[in-house]
Amino acid sequence: MTQRTLVLLKPDAVRRGLTGEIISRIERKAGWQITALELRTLERATLEQHYAEHVGKPFYEPLVEFMSSGPVVALIVEGERVVEGVRALAGPTDPIAAAPGSIRGDYGVIVRENLIHASDSEESAEREVKIFFPGRA
Ligand code: TYD
Ligand code: MG
Repeated sequence: MTQRTLVLLKPDAVRRGLTGEIISRIERKAGWQITALELRTLERATLEQHYAEHVGKPFYEPLVEFMSSGPVVALIVEGERVVEGVRALAGPTDPIAAAPGSIRGDYGVIVRENLIHASDSEESAEREVKIFFPGRA
């Protein structure tokens, strides 16, 4: 079941020099391939599309502030069960609830600054790939 997923290494991961470590965990999974990778600073409009489901929630404005506060690394990762797989590597949204060994569990404390985004379904992945890599849609 080959899939693709959209991953963002958030501004905290870039600032803290953790992108290599996180990419390494993804790369080491057997059979997964990084097929696009770009460092970029996100505009509000891009984030509004990306986080459409969260517009209007109390955490939305601070989330957009944070996500546009510095560059992110955007990736497409392809491979067997990669949608569920990267979510599992990341761990739950709240880093304190995330098990040690997961990316959020090893490096995060604050919910907003949880290091990594990964698409939550194949449908989300297709939608998000179009936003970040329109040429790859
Ligand atoms: P969400 O899609 O619920 O989490 P995930 O990234 O695990 O799919 O939320 C998107 C991001 O919004 C989340 O990674 C961090 C931030 N966020 C908050 O700052 N506070 C919150 O209460 C929630 C639920 C999310
Ligand atoms: Mg989500």
